[in-house]
Amino acid sequence: MRINVTRSSMPTIEEYVSEISDIWDSHWLTNMGEKHNALEKELESFLNVPHVSLYTNGHLALENIITALDMKKGGEIITTPFTFASTTHAIVRTGFSPIFCDINPENYTIDVEKIEELITDKTVAIIPVHVYGNMCDVEKIERIASAYNLKVIYDSAHAFGVKYKGVSSACFGDATMYSFHATKVFNTIEGGAVCYHQDNLVRKLNDLRDFGIRSEEDVGYIGGNAKMNEFQAAMGLCNLRHFNEEIEKRRNVVLHYRERLRERIGIKLCNPQEDVEPNYAYFPVVFDKYKYSRDEIYRILKENGIGARKYFYPLTNSFSCYSDLKSAGIEKTPIAAYIAEKVLTLPLYADLNIKDVDIICDLILS
Ligand SMILES: Cc1ncc(COP(=O)(O)O)c(C=O)c1O
Repeated sequence: MRINVTRSSMPTIEEYVSEISDIWDSHWLTNMGEKHNALEKELESFLNVPHVSLYTNGHLALENIITALDMKKGGEIITTPFTFASTTHAIVRTGFSPIFCDINPENYTIDVEKIEELITDKTVAIIPVHVYGNMCDVEKIERIASAYNLKVIYDSAHAFGVKYKGVSSACFGDATMYSFHATKVFNTIEGGAVCYHQDNLVRKLNDLRDFGIRSEEDVGYIGGNAKMNEFQAAMGLCNLRHFNEEIEKRRNVVLHYRERLRERIGIKLCNPQEDVEPNYAYFPVVFDKYKYSRDEIYRILKENGIGARKYFYPLTNSFSCYSDLKSAGIEKTPIAAYIAEKVLTLPLYADLNIKDVDIICDLILS
């Protein structure tokens, strides 16, 4: 038996072939073709946000929005280390310094009570992460950002389709980045997007993804190549049609996990958040003083052909590539360090069989 931690959702082969068949008429494979532009429009309407700029992946979407906001180079950006490498790398690769804020122990997003003490005269922005699809405290973050005149970019790689008080996660801060990687609740194979309100960012974000080319005779920015191609966009158009179904199936899996694992001593689940419509992206479990450690559970599952993931371990502020960074070091983020040692995300995808959820839970509980 083999159960992977995730399994990409795909349309039927017939639906995908039908979606891509007109590419054989147009011979237009990339560079903002019809599928690409159609997906941007559909996402604007689905997410109820004025602007969506598509990218070839979420990481380059994040790098490009950091660049597009014209913040003072060398400035400090407050973020959390309890995230995928991408968040911290994007900050460093665009010429900024990451300053690591701890997370809160309830939903593992940025601890908003600890942001202000990290603000200096060099701080230019906050990049909070809606980790596992849990929404950050967007209201408090907005108050801090406006008091100190800081930009806010949400790493919302996990939070596509999540709403807070009925408002899409695409609508908070100066911009929101999504990942449409194969493992996400909505995928375009590889892919990503920046969502935003400001009209004056459209041109820049769109030029930056195409080498900064403004027109046939002018290159206005030192951009790279971050364009989404037509086959990726076609996958997105198909998957978007089935998004509600995807969420419903994931919901059933999560409810079953909850039923089996709730109220067990030493097993901590994330509580559903008030006012949040979730997307059931991940199922993190913290093993804290349970009869087995996180690493033992990981091993037991692995020996039985089940792939759980130590997500997020290690913390980005302990990566060897950041050993020279003054702000690095897990001692500065003790809650994140504690959770990273104890958390495991269990297999979760739309077609995960309830019987398999039972097998996983039996192994954990036995
Ligand atoms: C929190 C977070 N940020 C950024 C990314 C980068 O997205 P992508 O893989 O689409 O480049 C990911 C991807 O998994 C992620 O989990």
